Amino acid sequence: MEKKNMHKSVLLQEVVQFLDPKPGQVFIDATIGFGGHSEEILKKISPDGKLLGIDQDEEALNWLGANLAPKYPNLTLKKANFSEIDQISRESGHQNANGILADIGVSSYQFDEAGRGFSLKNDGPLDMRMDKTRDLTAAEVVNTYSEQDLTDIFSKYGEERLSKTIAREIVARRAEKRFATTLELADMIRGIYDKKGLKGLKIHPATRVFQALRIEVNDELGNLEKFLPQALDSLAPKGRLSVITFHSLEDRIVKDFFQREAKGCICPPDYPICKCGHEKTIKIITKKPILASDEEIRENPRSRSAKLRVIEKI
Ligand SMILES: C[S@@+](CC[C@H](N)C(=O)[O-])C[C@H]1O[C@@H](n2cnc3c(N)ncnc32)[C@H](O)[C@@H]1O
Repeated sequence: MEKKNMHKSVLLQEVVQFLDPKPGQVFIDATIGFGGHSEEILKKISPDGKLLGIDQDEEALNWLGANLAPKYPNLTLKKANFSEIDQISRESGHQNANGILADIGVSSYQFDEAGRGFSLKNDGPLDMRMDKTRDLTAAEVVNTYSEQDLTDIFSKYGEERLSKTIAREIVARRAEKRFATTLELADMIRGIYDKKGLKGLKIHPATRVFQALRIEVNDELGNLEKFLPQALDSLAPKGRLSVITFHSLEDRIVKDFFQREAKGCICPPDYPICKCGHEKTIKIITKKPILASDEEIRENPRSRSAKLRVIEKI
C-alpha cells in the first residue's frame, strides 16, 4: 500500500525548514510512523548522514523495513518507546544528534485499521495499544477501572462533559456483559447522547471518550514527560528539537518544559538569592506554536489540531 494511504505527514515543509538538515548530519525521528518526515530528512543528509527511526508500533516498522530501508542504508529502525530515547540513541551511535523530531500521537493507519481498536467507524476489538506487546488494553480499562477513575480519565484526557453519566452507564452494563468491541462502546455512548437530545454534533459523540482511553492505554502524557529531558541530552549543542502535538494537555507539557529550560534561575520570585542553580539550556525558536495552513487543513483535516514547537540546545 502507498504511504499516503497509511499516513499523511503534517507540517512537513515546516518541520524540514526548522530542522534544516544538512549533508552528513545525524537525526533521530522518535515517532517515525510511515516515514514521511524522515524521508525528507534522509534526502538532505544522505549519503553520509544517518537517521535513527524509533516507533513502538511493529506494523509501521515492518512497512518501513520493506519500503524505506532498502533505499537508505543509513536508516536504522528501532522498535521502542521514545521514553527511552537516551539509552537507544547511545546504543545505536546516534547521540549528539543535530536534530530530533517527535510527531506525537496516532498514525492514520492505526486510526483506520479496525483490528487496532481505535476506530469509531469499523468494529474491532477494544484494544488501542500502539505497542501490542504491552498488557493494558482499552477493554481492560473499560471493564476493570472504578467508576471514579473512568470519570476522571474521560474528563481530564477527553474533556468529556458527560463523563460521569458515561462512566456510570459503563459500570452498570459491564456487570451483565464485558465490553469487547469498539462499536459496543461507541453505540452505548451514542445512545446516551441521543437520550439527552444532544444530536447533530460535528464529531461522533464517542470521540472524546475514545481519545481519553487511548491516552490512558498508551500512557501518552507520562511518556512525553520522560522523553523531553532525555531528548535534550541526546542533542548536540545547536541541535534542534521539534515536537508536534495534537492535544492541549500534550502541548502544555511541551510548552512548560521548554519555558523552564529556556530560563536561568527558576526559584520562586520571593527568594532573595538563587538556590536552584538552574541554568538556561535551550533557546526557544518558535515563540508561538506553528499551525497548519488553511490549505493543509483542507487537504488533511487531521492537521487542524497540530501544534509544532521548536527549540535549539545551547
Ligand atoms: C503521527 S504518527 C507519526 C507519523 C510520521 N511522522 C510520518 O510522517 O509518517 C505517530 C507515531 O508515533 C508512534 N508513537 C506514539 N507514541 C510513541 C512512543 N511513546 N514511543 C514510540 N513511538 C510512539 C505511533 O506508533 C505512531 O506510529
